[in-house]
Amino acid sequence: MITYSIYVVDDEELIREASLLTLGKVYCVETFATGETCIEAIQTHPADLVLLDIGLPGMSGIETLKEIKKRFPDVLVIMITANDDIETVITAMKLGAYDYVVKPINMDALEVNIRNALGTIKLRKEVQVLQEKYLKENLPYFIGESDTIQEVMHLIEMVAKSPDASVLILGETGTGKELIASCVHYQSPNFKGPFVPVNCSAIPDNIIESELFGYEKGAFSGADPAGKKGLIEAAIDGTLFLDEVGDLSLAAQAKLLRFLENGEYYKVGGTRKYRIKTRIVAATNKDLDQLVEKELFRRDLYYRLATIKVEVPTLNRRPHDIIPMAQHFLAEFSRKYGKTFTGIGGETKHALTGHVWKGNIRELRNLIERAVLLGQGPEISLQDLGFDSPAQTAADSPNVAAPAEEAANAFPDITPHGLDLPALHESMDRHYFQKSLDMADGNAAKAARLLNMSYYAFRRCREKLSL
Ligand SMILES: Nc1ncnc2c1ncn2[C@@H]1O[C@H](COP(=O)(O)OP(=O)(O)OP(=O)(O)O)[C@@H](O)[C@H]1O
Ligand SMILES: [Mg+2]
Repeated sequence: MITYSIYVVDDEELIREASLLTLGKVYCVETFATGETCIEAIQTHPADLVLLDIGLPGMSGIETLKEIKKRFPDVLVIMITANDDIETVITAMKLGAYDYVVKPINMDALEVNIRNALGTIKLRKEVQVLQEKYLKENLPYFIGESDTIQEVMHLIEMVAKSPDASVLILGETGTGKELIASCVHYQSPNFKGPFVPVNCSAIPDNIIESELFGYEKGAFSGADPAGKKGLIEAAIDGTLFLDEVGDLSLAAQAKLLRFLENGEYYKVGGTRKYRIKTRIVAATNKDLDQLVEKELFRRDLYYRLATIKVEVPTLNRRPHDIIPMAQHFLAEFSRKYGKTFTGIGGETKHALTGHVWKGNIRELRNLIERAVLLGQGPEISLQDLGFDSPAQTAADSPNVAAPAEEAANAFPDITPHGLDLPALHESMDRHYFQKSLDMADGNAAKAARLLNMSYYAFRRCREKLSL
């Protein structure tokens, strides 16, 4: 059984003692002679309910109520008032008091008021528990068995705990950047707040500032006369996800930097300063270093956003995830379209792991959706995927699909003295990195694409090879 704690604030000792004697039998009661001491106590031990006298010495009952509602909005307050004080009672109710009782206090009537108030608290708590349970059960479903993605998940779990830290997510298209951003949000203490995704590349340059920060009344001709809230405000106490952040205009970048530095911003056309709290998570599949070099992206903003930098590997860099993901999508779409598939055949699994996933997880998901829609079952076949034959699949992606026999023939053998595999790896890497750079005229992004690597992974390996 829950024991509720009730604080009674009254300068009349008689009322404090009577409350302790009667209410103290059922509830955990503490009494205070002033508003100040009560507020101090709430800070360390929150109360469920406060019985608050209106006529207090020092901080008045109304001032105390204001302070309680401002700092501890969940605490319910029942005002205790003298008979003729109806104006003040109305003020108190407007300020958020739950109820009031009139002196001299009838203890039986007071108990009814208290029971009603505690009923409200119980209901609120139940709603809160259900809300949290619902959110937990509907968390984004994230599949990641490979070591690389496990590392990413571990990093996210750590950073999610600090709601003030901004996060920059880098990775190719369809690798799961938005899903990772939502994982950061739902694992953070702000998970009940809103998650507001914004695609910066989809908003024209001339309105991006007002979309993000809002505008004041009459900011420009054609503007809504009432002014407009920005997306940043919609994300209060939650997370603002800036997708394709590399496409932000320089003016919007300057405002964003200011906001990241001190939590302050101005609406377009205004001089009033706003201050709010929201976590910023940004993502891009562009090469931000290159944008910084070209002075299209502010270096200071880049460093500020990248407090925590998460690099998401391509799907081909985490081949162990391909089949679990395919199976997950198969179950999801079978449910959605009312189909019964028993699974994925061996030949098809082989083709899936061998395919070059240029569109990464999005491509895999779309392909499985199409297979579920068109396929007859009981298993997903190569034809359902639009892969003609095993030969064709291999031909589509010769580097990854088939560690082909001919290639195997070209491998040096293990002699009776053994084989220096790390050295062989390194010389092979060196050969292909150099070759790809030559073919791409020294353009690292193009060279990375030729090797089916993310730009970041390419850069890391290149540095290791000192090329
Ligand atoms: N680890 C994962 N587990 C399950 N589903 C995933 C995973 N990663 C991505 N997905 C799914 O793949 C699809 C693409 O992911 P998402 O939109 O997050 O990619 P993105 O990197 O933001 O792509 P883009 O760069 O094109 O915006 C989504 O449907 C997402 O739910
Ligand atoms: Mg995205």
